[in-house]
Amino acid sequence: MTRLGVLLSGRGSNLDAILRAKDDGRLDCEPALVLSNRPQAGGLAIARQHGVPIQVLDHRAYAERQAFDRAVVDALRAARVELVALAGFDRLVTSQLLAAFPERVLNIHPALLPAFKGLHAQRQALEYGARITGATVHFVDEHMDHGPIILQGAVPIAPDDSEDSLTARVLAVEHAIYPVALQLCAHGRLRIDGRRVTIQGPLPSLPPPMAWLP
Ligand code: GRF
Repeated sequence: MTRLGVLLSGRGSNLDAILRAKDDGRLDCEPALVLSNRPQAGGLAIARQHGVPIQVLDHRAYAERQAFDRAVVDALRAARVELVALAGFDRLVTSQLLAAFPERVLNIHPALLPAFKGLHAQRQALEYGARITGATVHFVDEHMDHGPIILQGAVPIAPDDSEDSLTARVLAVEHAIYPVALQLCAHGRLRIDGRRVTIQGPLPSLPPPMAWLP
């Protein structure tokens, strides 16, 4: 089974969704390490509950990003990680990590990229007056929220939505699509051609409104 490393900084609800997918037999990965740059991250407790090894590397102990990423790579390699999921990881990653895991680092973003990159994507969508937003799983490259897109799910915005209500519905979509994207990657079913990602073999079933066009 593919050994999975999860990098996070906060609450860890996506980690929880990933671990539940593994327990339900929807994700053929062995969670090998959960690494946080923040000692207080809620995701560490979730990892502990599931018996997943954890490690904290405080980025403030490193003079620059590359040095921090070298330490992250060392930790992932020591855990024999083969696939890396960023799940609410609040650091920009560098070539150190990407070169160590080429085409094997994924991220989840709470908007339909390329719209609303960066922090507070749900608030950005509301303030912009968008009618539809959503969530995106993509390969990571050296630019923020930029690499080739693997899966997206749409979320309509209601007139009376608050940032909290919208965030909750976007999160439900995140939790649905991230394990599916990881499963496809773990099984080597994703081909990257420039910016376009194609899925080899049968398309996974997704709940509406994430259904595929025939
Ligand atoms: C999610 O909204 C994710 O899309 C973004 O950060 C948030 C992390 O939430 N990158 P959680 O820690 O997984 O609950």
